[in-house]
Amino acid sequence: MRSLRDRCARPLRNLRLSVTDRCNLRCAYCMPEEEYVWLPRRDILRFEEILALVRVFAGLGVDKLRLTGGEPLLRRELPALVAMLAGEPRLRDLAMTTNGVLLAEHAAALRAAGLHRVTVSLDTLRRERFRALTRRDDLAAVLAGVEAAQRAGFRGTKLDSVLMRGVNDDELEDLLDYARAAGAELRYIEYMDVGGATRWSPEHVVARAEILERLRARYGAIEPLREDTSAPAQRFRLPDGTTFGIIASVTAPFCSSCDRSRLTADGMWYLCLYAAQGVDLRGPLRAGASPEELAERVRAAWSARADRGAEARLAARHEAPLLSIRSLREDPHLEMHTRGG
Ligand code: GTP
Ligand code: 5AD
Ligand code: SF4
Repeated sequence: MRSLRDRCARPLRNLRLSVTDRCNLRCAYCMPEEEYVWLPRRDILRFEEILALVRVFAGLGVDKLRLTGGEPLLRRELPALVAMLAGEPRLRDLAMTTNGVLLAEHAAALRAAGLHRVTVSLDTLRRERFRALTRRDDLAAVLAGVEAAQRAGFRGTKLDSVLMRGVNDDELEDLLDYARAAGAELRYIEYMDVGGATRWSPEHVVARAEILERLRARYGAIEPLREDTSAPAQRFRLPDGTTFGIIASVTAPFCSSCDRSRLTADGMWYLCLYAAQGVDLRGPLRAGASPEELAERVRAAWSARADRGAEARLAARHEAPLLSIRSLREDPHLEMHTRGG
């Protein structure tokens, strides 16, 4: 079992589980359009179906699970799903990525249900800018959510900031100061041309090298932390001990060590953030396939996997968004918010 590897010798260890494609924000880098095509309600997996699939993945080596959306907290009764997943002993790490808007309301219940960690997306600390960036006036709710997570006992909280030149890159230092005060670790994310990022352009990307140079000028020498993990973030330390991460998916992709895949809320399994096609697991599951049959399907697909999506985009020296609005409407599975960020 332990030896399931893809064609580049990468193991399958990390599953991102999208529990809904809906979102209550409209971040400019993710959902900039006015209209979206949503997954049909009848296709959305029930909790029992999710658990059945997660068990199949756990049997093949997945020990890290992250709940994503859209916005995962829009899924009703999410703590009940967390409790079911927390009862699966093979999952060493059970985390959630949220935009934080509803976190204050649910933090204590999620913690009690057995969730280990949360990551909150936070791209600005300015109310007007938050409104412009997300089309909702919810900054105060997000900040309350970050505090509530800390109060509920979550540790290892991360804050993810997608930097966009001319939009929020002047907050580089403020975001770091905020994270430090909040007891969380900040991660800067290079703006990617994935899925729904229809407004992407190379000029908007703030590269890792530039982030490091700016932080060095402000805080002094920066020490890279040596870590042997498949995590997307490279971590660094400032002279005062503050640590932070950078996810350089555009200028330095981590495809060579990528052990992650994604399951959409309707049970399509994607082996790469950039993959055009997924593997349908809902169909066989609902047709009564046994766990062994499902495992065989997963094993076969992973063994054949050769995806290196972000590296391929870098090699192609992309200048424009990857996908057209039309193709996104024709297949909403191509959207980042359907694939779970
Ligand atoms: P931990 O390391 O377990 O904390 O999780 P994570 O860093 O994978 O989780 P998170 O949801 O915070 O992911 C951070 C960001 O990394 C995402 O929002 C994306 O911007 C980026 N990212 C996640 N997965 C991929 C991937 O498969 N490929 C690329 N290129 N970028 C990814
Ligand atoms: N580039 C980088 N990260 C993105 N996300 C969504 N769209 C993009 C993009 N175009 C990620 C962000 C956000 C999470 C939910 O999804 O990290 O915090
Ligand atoms: Fe923003 Fe996440 Fe919602 Fe996309 S899914 S619009 S990144 S909050």
